[in-house]
Amino acid sequence: MDSQRADERPREIVLDEDEIPSRGAKVVTIGGGISIGVFRRDGGYHAFLNRCPHEQGPVCEGGISGAVVADVTTNWKPAWVMEGGVLLCPWHGLEFDLKTGACFSRKELRLRRFDVRVEAGKVRVRL
Ligand code: FES
Repeated sequence: MDSQRADERPREIVLDEDEIPSRGAKVVTIGGGISIGVFRRDGGYHAFLNRCPHEQGPVCEGGISGAVVADVTTNWKPAWVMEGGVLLCPWHGLEFDLKTGACFSRKELRLRRFDVRVEAGKVRVRL
């Protein structure tokens, strides 16, 4: 029975490029309580399951920010980096790399990514 339900799910989400905001996500619900967030970043698109690996919060509905670092690359002075490239989960504030889905503070946590390709102005997310 579960395999029948899985077969009924779409295999792909297709969006027009202009549906995806320049900052934040276009969140698409595909049924069964599953939603996917599609983001625009540095001329490319990135798609993640809208479920935080921490405690299942709606991570794709969180804010977009940057990060402060102070390390050898900044001569140990605080510097603002990755503007627009950090996704903050709205539930507890964990921060994720908007390109890779990696969590900055907890390396064991990572957002579930989906392959995205663009064809003739359409953004296609393979599920
Ligand atoms: S559910 Fe996302 S940080 Fe806790």
